[in-house]
Amino acid sequence: MQKYALVTGGSSGIGLEISKLLAAEGYGLLIVAKPDYELAQAKAGLEKLFAGLMVHTLALDLSLRTSAEQVYNWAEQKVGTVEILVNNAGFGTYGFINDIDLEQDTAMLDLHVITLYRLTRLFLKDMFANNQGRIMNLSSVSAFQPNPFLQTYGASKAFVYQFSQAIAYELREKGSAVRVTAVCPPPVKNTAFQHAAGMDRTNTFDNWMVLTPEKVALDAYRGMKAGKAVVIPGPWYFPIAQSLTGLLPNALIIRMSRYYLQTR
Ligand SMILES: NC(=O)c1ccc[n+]([C@@H]2O[C@H](COP(=O)([O-])OP(=O)(O)OC[C@H]3O[C@@H](n4cnc5c(N)ncnc54)[C@H](OP(=O)(O)O)[C@@H]3O)[C@@H](O)[C@H]2O)c1
Repeated sequence: MQKYALVTGGSSGIGLEISKLLAAEGYGLLIVAKPDYELAQAKAGLEKLFAGLMVHTLALDLSLRTSAEQVYNWAEQKVGTVEILVNNAGFGTYGFINDIDLEQDTAMLDLHVITLYRLTRLFLKDMFANNQGRIMNLSSVSAFQPNPFLQTYGASKAFVYQFSQAIAYELREKGSAVRVTAVCPPPVKNTAFQHAAGMDRTNTFDNWMVLTPEKVALDAYRGMKAGKAVVIPGPWYFPIAQSLTGLLPNALIIRMSRYYLQTR
């Protein structure tokens, strides 16, 4: 029987690369992204790459309160059971807090926190009942420390990081085979994120930490398959994150964070 995975923000960047890995393993795809030519382009590109692939798309702004239920009902009607949910859709808002557009920041919080929460709740209920399924939630290394000038984004990703790990623990304690994975990528180049966040001239995407979306997707996918609670893609950041958060004083960590978020 055909298995299905749902990827939010699967039309570009990391989400598109994760979609390719899922398709290569035989999953039919449900992709949700904002109404845009990119969504149709992604569907056409995936169908060209993988002959016979089933791709359903839904053009929807996921920052709206009603979106999660719409996605769940749409998925149920299209394919029935979803085995893998990838909560990947996201964007950044960069700048001094008073200069950031209030509505855009609120929409980001709704997308990263409320919609991710509601989608997780809706799909997890079925997965738990079937004792089968995987949820991958895209967090970020910005979840590990305060992020001056990327303050709200980092705080929203901290929610994703903590929420996902707590659920992963609860599922294990309940003896469930369902797994939840928080993915915490360092900065990723060649996606639409940097420009959309107004971060073209920051230090963030031009240093030793930076990865490609292909590498992030591969590490995330393997980690999710292995049932890991947390995946920090790439070779460098994991050991550093371990020691940074535990050993260095908070004041120093915030200054280092500020350095990497500085405008050149
Ligand atoms: N790039 C990085 O440095 C980095 C680092 C750590 C974590 N992440 C996280 O990784 C995830 C993917 O980022 P990316 O770098 O691949 O960025 P991207 O190329 O901009 O992709 C973001 C995806 O999310 C979708 N999306 C954004 N807002 C949406 C909304 N309101 N409703 C529905 N879909 C929406 C976009 O669709 P549309 O194009 O239709 O808007 C797009 O498909 C995000 O959660 C991001 O926070 C990124």
